[in-house]
Amino acid sequence: MADRPVVLVAGASRGLGLELARQFAERDWQVIATVRNLDGAPDLARLQTERPDRIAINRLDIADQSSVAAFKAEIGDRRLDVLYINAGIMGPRHHDPMRISDDEFQSLMLTNALAPVRFATTFLGNLREGTGVFVFMTSQLGSVARNEGGDYDLYRASKAALNTLTRSFVARLGARKLAVLSFHPGWVKTDMGGAKAPLDAETSVAGMIGIVEGARGTSGHRFLDYQGNVIPW
Ligand SMILES: NC(=O)c1ccc[n+]([C@@H]2O[C@H](COP(=O)([O-])OP(=O)(O)OC[C@H]3O[C@@H](n4cnc5c(N)ncnc54)[C@H](OP(=O)(O)O)[C@@H]3O)[C@@H](O)[C@H]2O)c1
Repeated sequence: MADRPVVLVAGASRGLGLELARQFAERDWQVIATVRNLDGAPDLARLQTERPDRIAINRLDIADQSSVAAFKAEIGDRRLDVLYINAGIMGPRHHDPMRISDDEFQSLMLTNALAPVRFATTFLGNLREGTGVFVFMTSQLGSVARNEGGDYDLYRASKAALNTLTRSFVARLGARKLAVLSFHPGWVKTDMGGAKAPLDAETSVAGMIGIVEGARGTSGHRFLDYQGNVIPW
């Protein structure tokens, strides 16, 4: 097998994660793409059939610690160049703090905030020191500074919590030379973004991958959109 850089895309069954797997493979990366349900990702399965030398598919539910442990056992000590944590959920569409159930809130915060940082911590030893890049898929809705209009209260809270946990994770990295990106992908046409979104996944992902490739060999933590514009915390 050629010595290609390796990217792990967590949550690649559809939407932005699927497009990340497709474009990284096209740019000659080795892709480990994860899905919750092996039968529930026909587009990724088709892609993997077309590029069996570039894409491997593994099962992973990022919010289930036993699933993360089983996946970590499969990956072992394999070197990773980029860990791209894309998995996320919107939660109830009403976004009303008075209507969300405790279980729904717990699931939203677990999936969007706690699980990504636990996952990054689990795989910290796999990231290639010096050039490794962690990517967290957050949202500009997670910017506390930009929250002047309200709305999307619960999803916002989950991504703001993700940003805070990510900053603590980065602080713990100390002097280790690793880059960390918190990305807003833009408002993108996917199952989550909906049909009215102005941006297609291809454009968003092409922008983000360019930034990831440029971040290799750097260190520090940045909150950026897919075009590289800085977003205030
Ligand atoms: N689209 C936008 O406009 C937009 C804007 C800002 C931020 N984002 C963020 O970008 C990321 C991708 O969004 P998207 O628009 O592509 O959404 P999407 O079409 O709804 O896809 C979400 C992906 O996350 C996976 N996922 C959800 N929960 C998971 C879990 N517990 N374990 C593993 N995988 C899980 C889904 O897998 P299943 O198929 O198994 O459900 C799916 O692959 C999310 O973090 C989202 O918050 C999106």
